Amino acid sequence: MKVGILGGGQLARMLAQAGGPMGVSCMFLSPDPQACAKPFGEHLCVAYDDPDGQHRLAEWADVITYEFENVPEAAVAVLERRRPVYPSSLALAASRDRLVEKDRFRALGLATAEFRAVDSLADLIDGAAEIGLPAILKTRVQGYDGKGQRVLRHSTDLQAAWERLGHVPCILESMVPFDRELSIIAARSRTGDTVHYPVSENYHREGVLRLSLSRAGDAMQPEAEALISRLLRDLDYVGVLALELFQVGDRLLANEMAPRVHNSGHWTIEAAPTSQFENHLRAICGLSLGPTTPIQQAATVNFIGRLPAEAAITAVAGAIPHVYGKAERPGRKVGHVTLLDTPGAPEPFERRLTRLLDVTGVPDLHYSVTAIP
Ligand SMILES: Nc1ncnc2c1ncn2[C@@H]1O[C@H](COP(=O)(O)OP(=O)(O)OP(=O)(O)O)[C@@H](O)[C@H]1O
Ligand SMILES: [Mg+2]
Repeated sequence: MKVGILGGGQLARMLAQAGGPMGVSCMFLSPDPQACAKPFGEHLCVAYDDPDGQHRLAEWADVITYEFENVPEAAVAVLERRRPVYPSSLALAASRDRLVEKDRFRALGLATAEFRAVDSLADLIDGAAEIGLPAILKTRVQGYDGKGQRVLRHSTDLQAAWERLGHVPCILESMVPFDRELSIIAARSRTGDTVHYPVSENYHREGVLRLSLSRAGDAMQPEAEALISRLLRDLDYVGVLALELFQVGDRLLANEMAPRVHNSGHWTIEAAPTSQFENHLRAICGLSLGPTTPIQQAATVNFIGRLPAEAAITAVAGAIPHVYGKAERPGRKVGHVTLLDTPGAPEPFERRLTRLLDVTGVPDLHYSVTAIP
Protein backbone atom coordinates (compact mmCIF):
# COMPACT_ATOMS: atom_id res chain seq x y z
CA MET A 1 0.00 0.00 0.00
CA LYS A 2 1.05 3.58 -0.67
CA VAL A 3 0.08 6.07 2.01
CA GLY A 4 0.20 9.83 1.42
CA ILE A 5 0.65 11.88 4.57
CA LEU A 6 -0.02 15.60 5.00
CA GLY A 7 2.75 16.71 7.33
CA GLY A 8 6.31 15.51 7.76
CA GLY A 9 7.01 15.77 11.48
CA GLN A 10 7.69 13.09 14.07
CA LEU A 11 4.18 11.61 13.89
CA ALA A 12 4.52 11.12 10.12
CA ARG A 13 7.99 9.71 10.72
CA MET A 14 6.77 7.14 13.24
CA LEU A 15 3.84 6.20 10.98
CA ALA A 16 6.29 5.52 8.16
CA GLN A 17 8.58 3.57 10.48
CA ALA A 18 5.63 1.38 11.51
CA GLY A 19 4.69 0.96 7.86
CA GLY A 20 8.09 -0.44 6.82
CA PRO A 21 7.60 -4.02 8.04
CA MET A 22 4.00 -3.98 6.75
CA GLY A 23 5.13 -3.14 3.22
CA VAL A 24 3.55 0.32 3.43
CA SER A 25 5.49 3.10 1.71
CA CYS A 26 4.87 6.75 2.46
CA MET A 27 5.02 10.11 0.69
CA PHE A 28 4.95 13.28 2.80
CA LEU A 29 3.56 16.60 1.66
CA SER A 30 5.07 19.24 3.93
CA PRO A 31 6.34 22.78 3.32
CA ASP A 32 9.15 22.25 5.84
CA PRO A 33 12.46 21.59 4.02
CA GLN A 34 13.77 20.01 7.24
CA ALA A 35 10.76 17.68 7.65
CA CYS A 36 12.07 14.99 9.97
CA ALA A 37 10.03 12.21 8.30
CA LYS A 38 12.13 12.64 5.12
CA PRO A 39 14.48 9.67 5.64
CA PHE A 40 11.46 7.34 5.66
CA GLY A 41 9.74 8.21 2.40
CA GLU A 42 9.48 10.65 -0.47
CA HIS A 43 9.07 14.31 0.49
CA LEU A 44 7.05 16.79 -1.57
CA CYS A 45 8.37 20.06 -0.19
CA VAL A 46 5.49 22.38 -1.16
CA ALA A 47 2.70 24.31 0.55
CA TYR A 48 -0.33 22.24 1.58
CA ASP A 49 -2.46 24.07 -0.96
CA ASP A 50 0.00 23.69 -3.85
CA PRO A 51 -2.09 22.21 -6.71
CA ASP A 52 0.85 20.40 -8.32
CA GLY A 53 1.93 18.86 -5.01
CA GLN A 54 -1.63 17.78 -4.25
CA HIS A 55 -1.90 16.25 -7.73
CA ARG A 56 1.33 14.29 -7.30
CA LEU A 57 0.27 13.01 -3.88
CA ALA A 58 -3.17 11.94 -5.13
CA GLU A 59 -1.68 10.28 -8.25
CA TRP A 60 0.79 8.25 -6.20
CA ALA A 61 -1.13 7.32 -3.04
CA ASP A 62 -3.76 4.61 -2.52
CA VAL A 63 -5.00 6.36 0.62
CA ILE A 64 -4.23 9.68 2.29
CA THR A 65 -4.00 10.68 5.96
CA TYR A 66 -2.60 13.59 7.97
CA GLU A 67 -0.46 13.95 11.07
CA PHE A 68 -1.99 17.06 12.59
CA GLU A 69 -5.36 18.78 12.67
CA ASN A 70 -4.15 22.19 11.54
CA VAL A 71 -3.78 21.18 7.89
CA PRO A 72 -5.94 23.45 5.72
CA GLU A 73 -9.44 21.98 5.36
CA ALA A 74 -9.51 23.03 1.71
CA ALA A 75 -6.42 20.89 0.97
CA VAL A 76 -8.09 17.85 2.52
CA ALA A 77 -11.30 18.54 0.58
CA VAL A 78 -9.37 18.66 -2.74
CA LEU A 79 -7.58 15.37 -1.99
CA GLU A 80 -10.78 13.69 -0.81
CA ARG A 81 -12.24 14.11 -4.29
CA ARG A 82 -9.36 12.08 -5.72
CA ARG A 83 -8.54 9.42 -3.11
CA PRO A 84 -9.93 8.06 0.18
CA VAL A 85 -8.80 10.35 3.02
CA TYR A 86 -8.96 8.98 6.58
CA PRO A 87 -9.93 10.31 9.08
CA SER A 88 -12.54 12.06 6.91
CA SER A 89 -12.85 15.79 6.42
CA LEU A 90 -15.88 15.60 8.73
CA ALA A 91 -13.69 14.25 11.55
CA LEU A 92 -11.09 16.91 10.82
CA ALA A 93 -13.66 19.71 10.89
CA ALA A 94 -15.06 18.32 14.15
CA SER A 95 -11.75 18.66 15.94
CA ARG A 96 -9.93 21.69 14.58
CA ASP A 97 -12.24 24.33 16.09
CA ARG A 98 -12.46 24.12 19.89
CA LEU A 99 -15.97 25.59 20.00
CA VAL A 100 -17.39 23.19 17.39
CA GLU A 101 -15.63 20.37 19.21
CA LYS A 102 -17.05 21.17 22.64
CA ASP A 103 -20.56 21.67 21.19
CA ARG A 104 -20.32 18.16 19.74
CA PHE A 105 -19.06 16.73 23.03
CA ARG A 106 -22.08 18.22 24.81
CA ALA A 107 -24.50 17.06 22.10
CA LEU A 108 -23.20 13.51 22.54
CA GLY A 109 -23.54 13.69 26.32
CA LEU A 110 -19.82 14.08 27.11
CA ALA A 111 -19.37 16.47 30.03
CA THR A 112 -16.96 19.40 29.52
CA ALA A 113 -15.73 22.45 31.41
CA GLU A 114 -18.16 25.37 31.30
CA PHE A 115 -17.46 27.39 28.17
CA ARG A 116 -18.55 30.45 26.24
CA ALA A 117 -17.88 31.66 22.70
CA VAL A 118 -15.84 34.88 22.69
CA ASP A 119 -15.83 37.12 19.60
CA SER A 120 -15.19 40.46 21.30
CA LEU A 121 -13.87 41.96 24.51
CA ALA A 122 -17.48 42.50 25.59
CA ASP A 123 -18.17 38.75 25.14
CA LEU A 124 -15.10 38.01 27.24
CA ILE A 125 -16.20 40.31 30.05
CA ASP A 126 -19.73 38.81 30.02
CA GLY A 127 -18.40 35.24 29.80
CA ALA A 128 -15.99 35.73 32.69
CA ALA A 129 -18.84 37.16 34.81
CA GLU A 130 -20.97 34.10 33.99
CA ILE A 131 -18.49 31.26 34.45
CA GLY A 132 -16.19 32.96 36.97
CA LEU A 133 -12.41 33.10 37.35
CA PRO A 134 -9.95 31.49 37.11
CA ALA A 135 -10.65 30.59 33.51
CA ILE A 136 -8.71 29.93 30.31
CA LEU A 137 -9.09 31.85 27.08
CA LYS A 138 -8.09 29.78 24.02
CA THR A 139 -8.08 30.60 20.32
CA ARG A 140 -10.71 28.46 18.59
CA VAL A 141 -8.26 27.22 15.94
CA GLN A 142 -4.53 26.61 15.49
CA GLY A 143 -3.54 26.07 19.15
CA TYR A 144 -1.16 23.30 20.19
CA ASP A 145 1.24 22.60 23.06
CA GLY A 146 -0.52 25.26 25.12
CA LYS A 147 0.09 27.94 22.45
CA GLY A 148 -2.80 30.34 21.83
CA GLN A 149 -4.00 30.21 25.45
CA ARG A 150 -4.06 32.64 28.36
CA VAL A 151 -4.97 31.87 31.94
CA LEU A 152 -7.22 34.54 33.45
CA ARG A 153 -7.04 34.92 37.22
CA HIS A 154 -8.28 38.49 37.82
CA SER A 155 -10.75 40.69 35.98
CA THR A 156 -7.80 42.97 35.16
CA ASP A 157 -6.29 40.14 33.04
CA LEU A 158 -9.10 40.10 30.47
CA GLN A 159 -8.20 42.95 28.17
CA ALA A 160 -4.50 42.06 27.95
CA ALA A 161 -5.35 38.41 27.16
CA TRP A 162 -7.80 39.41 24.43
CA GLU A 163 -5.17 41.67 22.88
CA ARG A 164 -2.38 39.17 23.28
CA LEU A 165 -4.34 36.49 21.41
CA GLY A 166 -4.87 38.97 18.59
CA HIS A 167 -8.64 39.71 18.72
CA VAL A 168 -9.43 36.36 17.06
CA PRO A 169 -12.44 34.14 17.76
CA CYS A 170 -11.87 32.37 21.07
CA ILE A 171 -13.45 30.06 23.58
CA LEU A 172 -13.48 30.85 27.30
CA GLU A 173 -13.33 27.79 29.54
CA SER A 174 -13.67 27.48 33.28
CA MET A 175 -10.49 26.20 34.93
CA VAL A 176 -11.10 22.58 35.84
CA PRO A 177 -9.63 21.60 39.25
CA PHE A 178 -8.74 18.17 37.91
CA ASP A 179 -7.29 15.30 39.95
CA ARG A 180 -5.67 13.74 36.90
CA GLU A 181 -5.31 14.36 33.18
CA LEU A 182 -5.96 11.25 31.13
CA SER A 183 -6.11 10.40 27.45
CA ILE A 184 -7.55 7.44 25.68
CA ILE A 185 -6.54 6.30 22.23
CA ALA A 186 -8.73 4.09 20.07
CA ALA A 187 -8.68 2.85 16.50
CA ARG A 188 -11.67 2.13 14.26
CA SER A 189 -11.42 0.14 11.05
CA ARG A 190 -13.19 0.78 7.76
CA THR A 191 -15.71 -1.91 8.76
CA GLY A 192 -16.41 -0.29 12.13
CA ASP A 193 -14.41 -2.63 14.39
CA THR A 194 -12.92 -0.74 17.32
CA VAL A 195 -9.98 -1.35 19.67
CA HIS A 196 -8.93 0.72 22.68
CA TYR A 197 -5.58 1.21 24.38
CA PRO A 198 -5.35 1.58 28.15
CA VAL A 199 -5.69 5.19 29.27
CA SER A 200 -2.51 7.23 29.76
CA GLU A 201 -2.02 9.55 32.71
CA ASN A 202 -0.52 12.79 31.42
CA TYR A 203 1.68 15.44 33.02
CA HIS A 204 2.43 18.82 31.42
CA ARG A 205 4.93 21.61 32.12
CA GLU A 206 4.34 25.06 30.60
CA GLY A 207 1.53 23.59 28.50
CA VAL A 208 3.77 20.91 26.96
CA LEU A 209 3.27 17.19 27.60
CA ARG A 210 6.27 15.80 29.48
CA LEU A 211 5.17 12.40 30.78
CA SER A 212 2.54 9.83 29.84
CA LEU A 213 2.14 6.84 32.07
CA SER A 214 0.09 3.78 31.28
CA ARG A 215 -0.80 1.39 34.05
CA ALA A 216 -2.93 -1.70 33.86
CA GLY A 217 -6.43 -1.66 35.30
CA ASP A 218 -7.14 2.08 35.60
CA ALA A 219 -10.53 2.52 37.29
CA MET A 220 -11.56 5.09 34.64
CA GLN A 221 -10.89 2.77 31.67
CA PRO A 222 -14.51 1.61 31.06
CA GLU A 223 -15.88 5.17 31.18
CA ALA A 224 -13.11 6.50 28.92
CA GLU A 225 -13.79 3.73 26.39
CA ALA A 226 -17.51 4.48 26.43
CA LEU A 227 -16.88 8.19 25.76
CA ILE A 228 -14.48 7.74 22.85
CA SER A 229 -16.69 5.03 21.35
CA ARG A 230 -19.55 7.53 21.13
CA LEU A 231 -17.33 9.90 19.13
CA LEU A 232 -16.02 7.15 16.86
CA ARG A 233 -19.54 6.05 15.96
CA ASP A 234 -20.89 9.56 15.60
CA LEU A 235 -18.12 10.55 13.17
CA ASP A 236 -18.14 7.17 11.37
CA TYR A 237 -14.46 7.43 12.12
CA VAL A 238 -11.64 5.52 10.42
CA GLY A 239 -8.13 5.57 11.94
CA VAL A 240 -6.72 6.42 15.35
CA LEU A 241 -8.49 8.97 17.52
CA ALA A 242 -7.22 10.38 20.82
CA LEU A 243 -9.46 11.95 23.47
CA GLU A 244 -7.97 14.12 26.22
CA LEU A 245 -9.86 14.03 29.51
CA PHE A 246 -9.84 15.68 32.93
CA GLN A 247 -10.72 13.46 35.89
CA VAL A 248 -12.51 15.23 38.73
CA GLY A 249 -13.41 12.80 41.49
CA ASP A 250 -14.92 9.89 39.58
CA ARG A 251 -16.13 12.02 36.65
CA LEU A 252 -14.45 12.51 33.31
CA LEU A 253 -14.70 15.81 31.41
CA ALA A 254 -13.72 15.89 27.73
CA ASN A 255 -11.05 18.50 26.96
CA GLU A 256 -10.20 17.94 23.30
CA MET A 257 -9.79 15.25 20.70
CA ALA A 258 -7.06 14.72 18.12
CA PRO A 259 -7.93 12.97 14.83
CA ARG A 260 -4.54 11.29 14.63
CA VAL A 261 -1.90 9.37 16.48
CA HIS A 262 -1.10 11.08 19.77
CA ASN A 263 1.99 11.88 21.83
CA SER A 264 0.49 10.16 24.88
CA GLY A 265 0.49 6.85 22.99
CA HIS A 266 4.12 6.59 21.95
CA TRP A 267 4.70 3.92 24.61
CA THR A 268 2.54 1.58 22.47
CA ILE A 269 5.50 1.15 20.08
CA GLU A 270 7.27 -1.11 22.56
CA ALA A 271 4.67 -2.03 25.19
CA ALA A 272 1.64 -3.01 23.08
CA PRO A 273 1.40 -5.89 20.60
CA THR A 274 0.25 -3.42 17.92
CA SER A 275 1.37 0.20 18.20
CA GLN A 276 -0.98 3.15 17.63
CA PHE A 277 0.97 3.85 14.43
CA GLU A 278 0.49 0.35 13.04
CA ASN A 279 -3.20 0.33 13.95
CA HIS A 280 -3.71 3.69 12.26
CA LEU A 281 -2.15 2.33 9.07
CA ARG A 282 -4.14 -0.91 9.33
CA ALA A 283 -7.37 1.06 9.76
CA ILE A 284 -6.86 3.45 6.86
CA CYS A 285 -5.56 0.68 4.56
CA GLY A 286 -8.71 -1.40 5.12
CA LEU A 287 -6.96 -4.10 7.15
CA SER A 288 -8.08 -5.74 10.40
CA LEU A 289 -6.91 -4.06 13.60
CA GLY A 290 -4.27 -5.63 15.82
CA PRO A 291 -4.53 -6.41 19.53
CA THR A 292 -3.85 -3.59 21.99
CA THR A 293 -3.65 -5.28 25.40
CA PRO A 294 -0.24 -4.15 26.67
CA ILE A 295 2.52 -6.56 27.38
CA GLN A 296 3.51 -4.44 30.39
CA GLN A 297 3.05 -1.04 32.00
CA ALA A 298 5.11 1.70 30.38
CA ALA A 299 5.82 5.41 30.29
CA THR A 300 6.76 7.97 27.65
CA VAL A 301 8.99 10.86 28.71
CA ASN A 302 9.40 13.62 26.11
CA PHE A 303 12.65 15.36 25.22
CA ILE A 304 11.69 19.04 25.03
CA GLY A 305 14.07 21.64 23.57
CA ARG A 306 17.21 19.53 23.83
CA LEU A 307 18.32 15.93 23.66
CA PRO A 308 19.72 14.46 26.85
CA ALA A 309 23.01 12.55 26.61
CA GLU A 310 22.17 9.21 25.04
CA ALA A 311 24.37 7.40 27.56
CA ALA A 312 22.33 8.81 30.47
CA ILE A 313 19.14 7.39 28.90
CA THR A 314 20.46 3.99 27.93
CA ALA A 315 22.03 3.58 31.40
CA VAL A 316 18.47 3.23 32.73
CA ALA A 317 17.25 -0.36 32.38
CA GLY A 318 14.22 -0.71 30.12
CA ALA A 319 14.66 2.79 28.60
CA ILE A 320 14.43 2.99 24.82
CA PRO A 321 15.28 6.38 23.27
CA HIS A 322 13.67 7.77 20.11
CA VAL A 323 15.43 10.70 18.46
CA TYR A 324 13.39 12.52 15.81
CA GLY A 325 16.24 14.14 13.87
CA LYS A 326 14.96 17.69 14.55
CA ALA A 327 17.12 20.69 15.44
CA GLU A 328 17.08 21.57 19.13
CA ARG A 329 14.98 24.65 19.93
CA PRO A 330 13.31 25.75 23.20
CA GLY A 331 9.90 24.16 23.68
CA ARG A 332 10.25 21.81 20.70
CA LYS A 333 9.58 18.05 20.91
CA VAL A 334 12.87 16.56 19.69
CA GLY A 335 12.49 12.98 20.90
CA HIS A 336 11.14 10.74 23.63
CA VAL A 337 12.08 7.72 25.68
CA THR A 338 9.86 4.76 26.40
CA LEU A 339 10.36 3.18 29.79
CA LEU A 340 9.34 -0.45 30.07
CA ASP A 341 8.51 -2.25 33.28
CA THR A 342 11.15 -4.81 32.36
CA PRO A 343 10.91 -7.87 34.59
CA GLY A 344 14.11 -8.45 36.51
CA ALA A 345 15.32 -4.84 36.15
CA PRO A 346 17.85 -3.91 38.84
CA GLU A 347 15.68 -1.05 40.14
CA PRO A 348 11.89 -0.66 40.48
CA PHE A 349 9.95 1.14 37.72
CA GLU A 350 9.33 4.20 39.90
CA ARG A 351 13.05 4.69 40.61
CA ARG A 352 13.97 4.33 36.94
CA LEU A 353 11.24 6.77 35.90
CA THR A 354 12.52 9.30 38.44
CA ARG A 355 16.00 9.02 36.91
CA LEU A 356 14.61 9.64 33.43
CA LEU A 357 12.66 12.69 34.61
CA ASP A 358 15.95 13.95 36.11
CA VAL A 359 17.96 13.63 32.91
CA THR A 360 15.16 15.13 30.78
CA GLY A 361 15.13 18.34 32.83
CA VAL A 362 11.97 17.88 34.93
CA PRO A 363 13.43 16.46 38.17
CA ASP A 364 10.50 17.69 40.27
CA LEU A 365 7.84 16.04 38.10
CA HIS A 366 7.94 12.75 39.96
CA TYR A 367 6.39 14.48 42.99
CA SER A 368 3.27 15.10 40.88
CA VAL A 369 2.89 11.51 39.76
CA THR A 370 0.10 9.86 41.68
CA ALA A 371 1.22 6.72 43.56
CA ILE A 372 3.23 4.70 41.11
CA PRO A 373 2.79 1.04 42.08
N1 LIG B 1 -10.26 24.14 31.12
C1 LIG B 1 -9.09 23.75 31.62
N2 LIG B 1 -8.94 23.57 32.96
C2 LIG B 1 -7.74 23.21 33.49
N3 LIG B 1 -6.63 23.00 32.78
C3 LIG B 1 -6.70 23.16 31.44
C4 LIG B 1 -7.94 23.53 30.80
N4 LIG B 1 -7.71 23.61 29.48
C5 LIG B 1 -6.40 23.29 29.30
N5 LIG B 1 -5.79 23.03 30.46
C6 LIG B 1 -4.38 22.64 30.65
O1 LIG B 1 -3.61 23.08 29.52
C7 LIG B 1 -3.14 21.96 28.76
C8 LIG B 1 -3.19 22.27 27.27
O2 LIG B 1 -4.53 22.57 26.88
P1 LIG B 1 -5.22 21.95 25.60
O3 LIG B 1 -5.03 20.49 25.59
O4 LIG B 1 -6.62 22.44 25.55
O5 LIG B 1 -4.41 22.68 24.46
P2 LIG B 1 -3.39 22.28 23.35
O6 LIG B 1 -2.59 23.49 23.09
O7 LIG B 1 -4.15 21.66 22.24
O8 LIG B 1 -2.46 21.21 24.02
P3 LIG B 1 -1.81 19.90 23.40
O9 LIG B 1 -1.31 20.24 22.04
O10 LIG B 1 -0.70 19.60 24.38
O11 LIG B 1 -2.89 18.85 23.45
C9 LIG B 1 -4.06 20.82 29.16
O12 LIG B 1 -3.48 19.56 28.93
C10 LIG B 1 -4.25 21.14 30.65
O13 LIG B 1 -3.11 20.79 31.40
MG1 LIG C 1 -4.37 19.05 24.63
